[in-house]
Amino acid sequence: MKHFLEISQLSHLEITTLLQRALYFKNTLTYPCYSQSPVANLFYESSTRTRVSFELAAKHLSMPVINVDLQTSSECKGEVIEDTVKTLAAMGIKILIIRHGQEGLPQRLADMSYNSVHIINAGDGMHAHPSQAMLDLMTISEKKPDLSRLKIAIVGNIRHSRVANSLQHLCALMGVGELTLIAPAIWQPINVHYGQVTTSLQEGMVNADVIICLRVQRERLLTGEQLDIDSYRRDYAITSDRLKHAKADAMIMHPGPINRGIEIDDDIADGPQSFILQQVSNGVFMRMAILEHLNNSIHF
Ligand code: CP
Repeated sequence: MKHFLEISQLSHLEITTLLQRALYFKNTLTYPCYSQSPVANLFYESSTRTRVSFELAAKHLSMPVINVDLQTSSECKGEVIEDTVKTLAAMGIKILIIRHGQEGLPQRLADMSYNSVHIINAGDGMHAHPSQAMLDLMTISEKKPDLSRLKIAIVGNIRHSRVANSLQHLCALMGVGELTLIAPAIWQPINVHYGQVTTSLQEGMVNADVIICLRVQRERLLTGEQLDIDSYRRDYAITSDRLKHAKADAMIMHPGPINRGIEIDDDIADGPQSFILQQVSNGVFMRMAILEHLNNSIHF
């Protein structure tokens, strides 16, 4: 694996290897040293979890890490991203972690034949967020390891969600028993990779083992895709009443950041069934496994 761009490019073996390695890091707190592999974070969209956890993951592996400040970078003087990537590679950066609003950009940069740097997709528009899907899988499989017997429900703004896209590919590859995609008609996915789509929260949540609540991504809504937030809350928010439709031990997850009181109530987000902070913690270990995997394909 030279780049980490989207789940559909991974094999079942690569996914289970990453999962096992992330769990090893978590359980042993034993970390190898890869000090010859400098890493740069290049985030064109806002982030707390992904950016900081990739930085921490790199530091745990003794990789020098640079956070490129795009407010003061030469892109403000008109440099194009291809030249920024070439410049960073010429300085010796080996792994570049990119978040960008343009779908397919990480793949395009990875395809540049003159580019020796390894690219990690940390989220590209509405397309893919593969490291988030991997840390979600890690969190689920720690608690409920028999994926073939699980019913997972993803709830909310699925049409605009790169997380939902990556999770569909991952559930298909890993043989998750049942995947339900619950969304109001206006936010249903245009393409479905795996799972059944429904507008009914109650129907979709019945007997669910895992409920993954998505953020309402207001910044991505176009004219004609707007939905009154009060009506969304009325029909789709995860509340204690609605949780009764799922299994009694259903895991509640959310990739974050949360819009409290819109897509999920505080008592659920902070309650005993919530795994939201465990997702965040697992993100560091999963991203260590991803960085190590790419490091192993670097030719020094
Ligand atoms: N889940 C996620 O990508 O969060 P950030 O935007 O904070 O990185």
